[in-house]
Order: sequence, then C-alpha cells, then structure tokens
Amino acid sequence: MIGRHHARILQSLDGVDFVGGADPTGDRYGALGDPSLLYASVEELLEATRPQIAVVALPTEEHVAASQQLAAAGIHALIEKPLAATAAQAQVIIDLFTTAGLHAVVGHVERFNPALMEMRQRLDSGQIGTPFLIATQRIGPFPDRIRDVGVVKDLATHDLDLVGWLGGAAIDRVAAQTTNRTGRPHEDVVLVTGQLRSGLPFNCIVDWLSPTKIRSVRVLGDRGMLIADTVRSDLTFYENATVSSDWESSAALRGVSEGDVVRYALSRREPLLAELEAFRDLVLGDGDAAVVGLQAGLAAVQAAEAVLRSAESASTEIVYA
Ligand SMILES: NC(=O)c1ccc[n+]([C@@H]2O[C@H](COP(=O)([O-])OP(=O)(O)OC[C@H]3O[C@@H](n4cnc5c(N)ncnc54)[C@H](O)[C@@H]3O)[C@@H](O)[C@H]2O)c1
Repeated sequence: MIGRHHARILQSLDGVDFVGGADPTGDRYGALGDPSLLYASVEELLEATRPQIAVVALPTEEHVAASQQLAAAGIHALIEKPLAATAAQAQVIIDLFTTAGLHAVVGHVERFNPALMEMRQRLDSGQIGTPFLIATQRIGPFPDRIRDVGVVKDLATHDLDLVGWLGGAAIDRVAAQTTNRTGRPHEDVVLVTGQLRSGLPFNCIVDWLSPTKIRSVRVLGDRGMLIADTVRSDLTFYENATVSSDWESSAALRGVSEGDVVRYALSRREPLLAELEAFRDLVLGDGDAAVVGLQAGLAAVQAAEAVLRSAESASTEIVYA
C-alpha cells in the first residue's frame, strides 16, 4: 500500500535515480514505470544493483530483517513506521545503522502534514499561550492488509509520536483500554490517557471500527485552541473570547467563550514527498534536513508497548523512552 507511493515519488524525485523495487508478490499496483526494475527479493535487488538509499515499506515484523540486509550492504534507509514490532527490535535497528555509520530515519509522515507543521510553528510562537491538553482522534475502517500488529502499533504510534513532538516532551506515563470487537488476534480500538514529562496531559482515541475516517489533533491552551484535520490538511484556530467584563464573578462562572475563528490558507504539499525530500537532503549532506530520527521511532514503539501493558494490567504504566 505505502510502498507504491514511495516508488511513485522516488521515480520522479530530483536528485534520485530509481534503480529498483523488491516484492515477492510482484508489482500489484503497477507502481514501477519499468517492469524490469522489479525484483523478487531484497537479495536479488542487491545482487543486481547497489543503491545508496532504500525505503523499507514491508510488514512491520519484517523491518528488522530488511534493516540487517541494508545495513550490511552499506545502504542508508528510511524505514516505515512503526519502526519495528517491538522496542527490542527497534533498538536492534538503531544499533545496526549506528554501527555501520549510515543514515537511517523513520517514516513518521504525519510530522510532514502541512496542518501539523503549521500547528507546531504556531504552538512554538505562543499563539495559544500555555498548552494544557492535546487530544487526538484517528478512527476509520479496518485496512484488511494489516495482519501482524494491532491498532496500537499500526495506527496509535502516529499519535504517540505526535503528542510528544507537538508538546515538546517525551511521554512519561499512559493509562489505556483496548477492545477487540472483530475477533482478530490483535486489538482494534484503543483509548489512551497520558502525560508528557513536562506534565502536559493528552488523550488519543484510535480505532479500526468506524464507518468513516476522522483524523484530528487538537491542542488547547489558555488563549484558545488549534485543531488540525489531518485528512484534509486543514488547521483552524478558535480564539478565546476577548470581550472584557468588569463583572468578574460572572466571567468566572461563565468560563471561556468562543472568540474569532480562523481557518488558515495553507500551502499543501504531499507529506510523503516532503518526507522523502528531507531524507534525500540528509543523505546529500544537509545536516539540517527535517528528518525524523530512529530514536523517535523507538520512543513511539516504547510508548505503544506501555499502552498495551496498561490495557493488560489495568494500571498506569511509565514509558522508559
Ligand atoms: N506512514 C504511514 O502513514 C503508513 C501507512 C501505511 C503503512 N505504513 C507502514 O508501512 C509498512 C507496510 O505497510 P503496508 O500497508 O504498505 O503493507 P502491505 O501489506 O500493503 O505491503 C507490504 C508489502 O511488502 C511485501 N513484502 C513482505 N515481505 C517482504 C520481503 N521480505 N521483501 C520484500 N517485500 C516484502 C508484501 O508482499 C507486500 O506487498 C508497515 O510497517 C506499515 O505500518 C505506514
């Protein structure tokens, strides 16, 4: 699913010569312009050609084996998220590329969503004052292809990465509930309540059961709220009412009320394109390229494991990120 989009972009990306793709099931989506560039395995691809960079877009359980092959062959890699199926495997991947002296990044593509990039800048500039809540929602139908992990590792890792990135601190603790309505081996709904090391609370609702796709990230601060719709890449600011009142007790009782509402006109670039450009720039020597490092990929998997432990034990779990 995602590999064909990487292939589409890499075949036309400035500064990149596309030398091939590997998939034992073939090119089901016709992603390669030249069918002779399709190989049945990573081994076959590496026997035929020796690229400088590769994208790992295999089932999550396969990331560590592919990383071993690429690191051994001296190839810089962008590895899809979640970085690995377990934190232990994610650490193996980090060690492989670090020891080999190679660049490796993780595909947390939501960080390249125009609405979230704009949101982060506005948070940094203090637009909403001090944030005191981050709430995310990522719901939709089950994608039949995912078999190796549940909704926590497949989808909630996006949110667990985003809350730390937007909130400016690692996740400290989580309390979670999961359910499995469909009888598959893994959970299909998760509710997470958590706290960053800075004390900022967050929550995430993620499921594979909803008959429509909603993806939102909301940050509430003492001057208002920013809310991103990451399906449409829209960002809206709801300002707290600025109407002053000299009747203080009334204002305190009424609490906050809605002020001006602004939906920003954003320049929308495809997030995957921006992600691949950043990876290319890093490999070409741009030390400031806005890539997502493997430590962030590990932190998201560690947080996901804490979420699963919490759901299992019905207790709050500390994340050792
Ligand atoms: N960043 C995102 O938003 C995003 C979106 C979708 C998927 N993903 C991630 O991308 C990865 C792939 O997910 P998908 O939905 O594209 O899965 P998919 O099942 O659609 O595609 C995986 C492909 O890998 C092939 N494959 C399996 N083992 C292989 C091997 N050893 N060598 C070569 N090819 C092999 C399979 O034949 C299949 O075609 C997962 O880790 C997933 O979490 C990320």
